[in-house]
Amino acid sequence: MLRDYKPLAGSSQRRGFPKRNVIVMALFLVLLAIGTYQLQGKSNRDANVSIRGGRCNKIDPLAPSFDASIEKILEDSDFKSAAIERLSKAIQIPTEIQDVNPMPADNLEYYAKFFEFHAYLEKSFPLVHKHLSVEKVNEVGLVYSWAGKDDSLKPVLFMAHQDVVPVNRATVSQWDHPPFSGYYDSESDTLWGRGTADCKNLLIAELAAVELLLEDGYEPVRSVVLSFGFDEESSGVLGAKYLGKFLHERYGDDGLYAIVDEGGPVVELEENVYIATPITGEKGYVDSEITIHGVGGHSSVPPDHTTIGVAAALISTMESRPFDSTIGSENPLYGLLTCAAEHSNKLPSAFKSAILNSKDDPKEKQKLVNFISQDARFKDLIKTSQAADIINGGVKANALPEVTSFLVNHRIELQSSVNATLERDLAIVKEIAHHYGYGVKYEEQLLAPATELGYIELRGSRKLEPAPISPTHGPVWDVFAGTIQNVFEKGVFIGDDEKELYVTTALFSGNTDTKYYWPLTKNIYRFFPMIGPSYLLKTVHSVNEHIPASAHLSAIAFIYEYIVNTSENV
Ligand SMILES: *[C@@H]1O[C@H](CO)[C@@H](O)[C@H](O)[C@H]1NC(C)=O
Ligand SMILES: *[C@@H]1O[C@H](CO)[C@@H](O)[C@H](O)[C@H]1NC(C)=O
Ligand SMILES: *[C@@H]1O[C@H](CO)[C@@H](O)[C@H](O)[C@H]1NC(C)=O
Ligand SMILES: [Zn+2]
Repeated sequence: MLRDYKPLAGSSQRRGFPKRNVIVMALFLVLLAIGTYQLQGKSNRDANVSIRGGRCNKIDPLAPSFDASIEKILEDSDFKSAAIERLSKAIQIPTEIQDVNPMPADNLEYYAKFFEFHAYLEKSFPLVHKHLSVEKVNEVGLVYSWAGKDDSLKPVLFMAHQDVVPVNRATVSQWDHPPFSGYYDSESDTLWGRGTADCKNLLIAELAAVELLLEDGYEPVRSVVLSFGFDEESSGVLGAKYLGKFLHERYGDDGLYAIVDEGGPVVELEENVYIATPITGEKGYVDSEITIHGVGGHSSVPPDHTTIGVAAALISTMESRPFDSTIGSENPLYGLLTCAAEHSNKLPSAFKSAILNSKDDPKEKQKLVNFISQDARFKDLIKTSQAADIINGGVKANALPEVTSFLVNHRIELQSSVNATLERDLAIVKEIAHHYGYGVKYEEQLLAPATELGYIELRGSRKLEPAPISPTHGPVWDVFAGTIQNVFEKGVFIGDDEKELYVTTALFSGNTDTKYYWPLTKNIYRFFPMIGPSYLLKTVHSVNEHIPASAHLSAIAFIYEYIVNTSENV
């Protein structure tokens, strides 16, 4: 998967670093961006690496006292067939969402598939619909509330989204099984279709777990809330944005115990070694929109630099000065690497040493940064990225372009901010404006008056700060991670003592619907309770999306146990 890997020429620090084949697995993991710094415990396997950094160790499994159905969920074949069938039918309702969608109240017809989906949920989960209150937010968003016995406790919230990425009609023939067939292949024990992984597995599992708990006569102490958006794949502006506000009005700042949403799965590090990768951080976002306002005229008498030339100078200056790369121990990626270093038998010691000692040793840290920076696929996880994505200017061969504008998209590094990113772009705008004799405008402010040549304007749009980093220690994390440890090690892996699981954390450069829920709690864990097969990344949002049937069962088991454990540990 690491095609074209080549160390950059001219760097001396790279000597002694692993070559491509031996680091493939580590970098695959970096892609999934995992990390953790857990309790002390397991000794490092490579005796020659002295460790002064964080540890990735096992967590005590936390088994709930009430676990009436866990065996049934994971072992019973009748339960399995029924569960797979129920998920398959959910896949068969094509809740595709486009990039731009109407306000539901203005066009209910547009959301017909979603209403069909609601009716399907009502039919499939009768106890949920009998015992929980169901509210519709912005017509299509769903909130289910299950009141706990102790209303002084903060509720636990489970999220998922009803919508799926549209299937490009031109690619339908490339699917091994039609995208909305919900086909179950018993031979390979896999379930096929758009939305199997992203994200109906989770949505249906959440409802299935609650349904089963109700069937088992369980009464939660802590309230349980489910919240399902319907346009996550187009930024959640009609779904999660309204749901987040609705829940915030109800529960207030820090009013929830924890949130579980879609995210990183459990992945196989190497044979018999698995790591769970809940995402505990997300990069920020801003688009810098830069416009060069110049003067027009006949192109037979041009200035030395047209507005297009000035735009070119700006872009090439920005590109020649990438943002700084850095990796601190707070970065979920650092924990990922720690896990890989401590539990992989394949990583070379020089690499392990750079990872494990980078916390206290600036030289080792620099080595680690250099190492990650070598690879185009991973370098952006440790710095603010910049990509000039749109440019407009000029309309005619004999007319000077009065206006040239372009857009640079940034994904902001965890420790940085929208402000720092725009500050840096503004500094370059000022420098180039000064050099070429232009004025400067930032947002509504004229910072340097327009000259006879014109002025350069910078605006930031679609601003989003990096997500607050979710805690990876303390009682809420312990219950969450302990439940994962229990479900997989004592449940999914039962009878297979060779298999080991470590719970880590992960970082993504995109955002889930949780971006509208930040004020509700700092304990936001984006996690798919399933073993992510190697084809997962290639098929999500693409052709041939499918999941192992076991992924659905482990998801139900996790939600079931987590609900009980959040009630028992108050
Ligand atoms: C560890 O160090 C010893 C002594 O320097 C060496 O003989 C041995 O090969 C090393 N082991 C590994 C796994 O690198
Ligand atoms: C889960 O429940 C068991 C049994 O009551 C309890 O011992 C354990 O502490 C709970 N786990 C968590 C994570 O709260
Ligand atoms: C960044 O924040 C500072 C302090 O609030 C403010 O003065 C400055 O204008 C901001 N910079 C940008 C580029 O928005
Ligand atoms: Zn999703």
